[in-house]
Amino acid sequence: MTKLAVRKLLIDLSTPFDRHWNGGDAFSSTLFNALSMSFPAGEQFFLDSVRNGSKLLPAAQQTAMAEEIKGFIGQEATHRRIHQLMNDQLTKIGYTNLWEQRIIDRQKLLINKDLRHAVAITAATEHLTALFAHWLLNHPEILKNADPRLRTLWMWHASEESEHRSTAFDVYLAMNGNYEWRVRMMRWVAFYFLSDLTQQALQHLWRDKQLFKVNIYKQGFRFLFGSQGLISSNYHAWRDYFKRDFHPSQHDDRLSQQWLKENTNLYSLVGKTS
Ligand SMILES: [Fe+2]
Ligand SMILES: [Fe+2]
Repeated sequence: MTKLAVRKLLIDLSTPFDRHWNGGDAFSSTLFNALSMSFPAGEQFFLDSVRNGSKLLPAAQQTAMAEEIKGFIGQEATHRRIHQLMNDQLTKIGYTNLWEQRIIDRQKLLINKDLRHAVAITAATEHLTALFAHWLLNHPEILKNADPRLRTLWMWHASEESEHRSTAFDVYLAMNGNYEWRVRMMRWVAFYFLSDLTQQALQHLWRDKQLFKVNIYKQGFRFLFGSQGLISSNYHAWRDYFKRDFHPSQHDDRLSQQWLKENTNLYSLVGKTS
């Protein structure tokens, strides 16, 4: 069992930030801004599915996993709250959150369905976020020139995603979720995640009058497909999910633990007085 602390981030997002807050880099700022739009609704879905799924487990298993699940729910609830603050600023800048309603609409497809489907979707998305998190922690230079508040937000979120990467997966296994549905949901999640992210990012570029600037696509190609790019350097780790004996703990989380240890001045522990 992983012990998951809930941390309150000590940053103030009540004041505006620049739309291209990542050192003026339009592509990466747009990608992070678009991603942030998915978190309030998405992470509510993750924590609900894990909470509801775990209630179906036998009492002994529920007890064994209770503390980790409580930590997972606390972490995701904190993420969604702080990303809502970021999104409020993005809305003031003029972006429209198109992604959120799609997440809400798609959840209707799960009404009266086996709860394991929702947990499998969560486990698959958690694999994607854990890969993104590890990549970001491994390349802190990406946020070197960022607004310090947003650098802290993304590094903290990345660290906790990496830290709790196994929780939803373990709940799915404990619910006797099978391999076939696990990988079927990953294909579904990967397709919709990339499609939603692209549509949200294009909306931001349209709003910024950057949609037809060739330079943006050059920056994007390097960011995603360069030698250390987000997609090129994560493809094999993504494919690991399709191995029958895959478990998220097979992927390293030392960078996450290191960041959390080295940055205790940036957060307080919820439920602790010091
Ligand atoms: Fe999260
Ligand atoms: Fe997560």
